[in-house]
Amino acid sequence: MERRDVQGHYERLAADYDEHWGSAPRHITWMSARLAETLRLSSGDRMADIGCGTGIFAREVARIIDPQHAILCVDPSPAMLTQIGTPPPAGLTPIAASAEDVAAGSAQLPYEQLDAIWLKESVHHVADPATTLDGLAARLAPGGRLLVVMLPTSIEYPLFQAALDRFTELQPDPELIVGHLRAAGLQPQLRYVQDELHLDREKYIGMVRARYMSVLSTFSDSEIEKGIDEMRAAHPEPVLTFPDRFAFVLGVKPGGGR
Ligand SMILES: C[S@@+](CC[C@H](N)C(=O)[O-])C[C@H]1O[C@@H](n2cnc3c(N)ncnc32)[C@H](O)[C@@H]1O
Repeated sequence: MERRDVQGHYERLAADYDEHWGSAPRHITWMSARLAETLRLSSGDRMADIGCGTGIFAREVARIIDPQHAILCVDPSPAMLTQIGTPPPAGLTPIAASAEDVAAGSAQLPYEQLDAIWLKESVHHVADPATTLDGLAARLAPGGRLLVVMLPTSIEYPLFQAALDRFTELQPDPELIVGHLRAAGLQPQLRYVQDELHLDREKYIGMVRARYMSVLSTFSDSEIEKGIDEMRAAHPEPVLTFPDRFAFVLGVKPGGGR
């Protein structure tokens, strides 16, 4: 997707984003706990959630670790950032910037160095991940951690087949990210974690119609409606149960006492 289209996509989605996930609060708690544990977060860390969206996960991470320094919630979409709230909740500082801005040093951050950075489902929007991840790694303090959370190249969501196929076509391979983190001087490791989602079928169909995933924005209204018919035929059950599997690519900067 062009940057302009990405911006437009999130402008349209922002107001309903948290509502979509409101039916799966357990998933938010589960994922935030995995973020905190993988990054070994502690309350004294200086942290940034890059491509934080509405801050739905950062808010829960803040609840878990009670940060001494506000978590920097960085996102280029003003509409998504607005959902964080005005004033923002304690422990979160919204910053309107892209991953590229932070990597290049053109975004003003309150901390010179960071102990932990995460990008959850935002790396696929970064045009040149090798350069951007290199720039982000440079902002880490010794012993700092950078985590990229992304979907694998194939997913088992109850979507229509054309959407699943296009997702596979567009999604970067997590192994590429491993290579970028290694090239950036970090010690990389890749693991997969899985949750199981239980979503009301009509609610999920509403999310598809709202194009809750950016890949769905590549389909016209009539293609989406045709896809929804296909989904209804394949899934008559009132509650959809499916695995949500994520690649966790962690890079650790040498040095530091941890
Ligand atoms: C799928 S959403 C994920 C939001 C949040 N991390 C979450 O998991 O709920 C992707 C987010 O990436 C942001 N984004 C798009 N381009 C970006 C870029 N170049 N750098 C950082 N974030 C970007 C979008 O505005 C959007 O909020």
